Amino acid sequence: MKKIRVGIIGVGNCFAGLIQGIEYYRKNKNKKPIGLMHPKMGSYDFKDIEFVSAFDVGANKIGKSLDKAVYAFPNLVNWVKIPKSKVVVTESPVLDGVGIYVENKIKPLKNPTPLEKLRKEIEKELKRIKTEVLVNYLPVGSQKATEFWAEMALKNKIGFVNCLPVFIASKQEWAEKFKKARVPIVGDDIKGQVGATIVHRVLARLCDDRGTSIDKTYQINVGGNTDFLNMLERTRLESKKISKTQAVTSQITKDMNAEKVYIGPSDFIPFLGNTKLAFIRIEGRMFADVPFSIELRLDVDDKANSAGVVIDAVRCAKIALDRKQGGYLEVSSYFMKHPLVQKTDSEARKAVEEFIK
Ligand SMILES: NC(=O)c1ccc[n+]([C@@H]2O[C@H](COP(=O)([O-])OP(=O)(O)OC[C@H]3O[C@@H](n4cnc5c(N)ncnc54)[C@H](O)[C@@H]3O)[C@@H](O)[C@H]2O)c1
Repeated sequence: MKKIRVGIIGVGNCFAGLIQGIEYYRKNKNKKPIGLMHPKMGSYDFKDIEFVSAFDVGANKIGKSLDKAVYAFPNLVNWVKIPKSKVVVTESPVLDGVGIYVENKIKPLKNPTPLEKLRKEIEKELKRIKTEVLVNYLPVGSQKATEFWAEMALKNKIGFVNCLPVFIASKQEWAEKFKKARVPIVGDDIKGQVGATIVHRVLARLCDDRGTSIDKTYQINVGGNTDFLNMLERTRLESKKISKTQAVTSQITKDMNAEKVYIGPSDFIPFLGNTKLAFIRIEGRMFADVPFSIELRLDVDDKANSAGVVIDAVRCAKIALDRKQGGYLEVSSYFMKHPLVQKTDSEARKAVEEFIK
């Protein structure tokens, strides 16, 4: 069986969820796997995903083997123990990766390697280890760091899965670069398995399809991990708000007054840990202008939610590599909040099935 050689940028909670989730299924191989959209995708089982390289800036993660680094502070996921790993976390350039609210939790090396030297070392490492797909799990607001890694993927012909809302796959000029280099890209900003975005999108679409008018809507999200802590820094948040808002408004055919839509990560509640709560409200009018409203509370593990989708996005990137298909992958409309092209989720799902075929 062919394996998928994956490199990780940011050994944080999302990655801890992905690797521990895969290990959970391995440990329970006699049980029917629950919670997967595709146990198999083309010829790839989800267990064919192998983590071969990992990059971070935390001094307490660099130099540690993956089986230790995934549990290192401030990571919170602790579902199962993963076996000993030969992969050692390597230094990544900090650039704009660490925001002001997380800087007392994520402490970079006191003497970091100069950027140009590090660039060469990373390239050497990626080649030596034959990384095929890079998964970008950098914190929200890491524009420069994401561009550094997108360039790295282009130059070294490595598929790129962009899990955060720095717009690369959804920006025409970047999508062109990936097409020209024949490198597949899936992005941007992972859409959780049953997260606030997909639930809100589907409800908005339902109201629209059924002929009602949505007059006002909000989505408030709170959580207690470093992702939510980092997002307290409003200047890092601009693209996250755009991504989350467009994901929903793209499903409503009637023009909505921008002032009547509020969608955003809204606060950090430390004791919630990786539990994410979303509060969604839709107010509208139905037949004969009669008002209605929907009020919903979602309670979900933020990291299971992301891993349940990344596990498919990675395999699509690998399938594209096998087919020598570069550029923006249409499956992004299903897996990501901010793809190049927004579709309804049922259309996007069909596109995934077509792609696999
Ligand atoms: N459901 C979800 O969890 C979800 C959904 C959509 C998007 N995302 C996005 O995925 C990303 C990852 O989320 P997370 O919960 O793992 O965050 P996290 O804070 O737990 O992990 C981020 C990791 O990146 C590291 N890092 C910081 N700067 C770096 C740099 N320059 N180079 C390499 N590593 C660096 C940190 O040390 C940390 O280990 C975030 O941007 C988040 O918004 C998550």
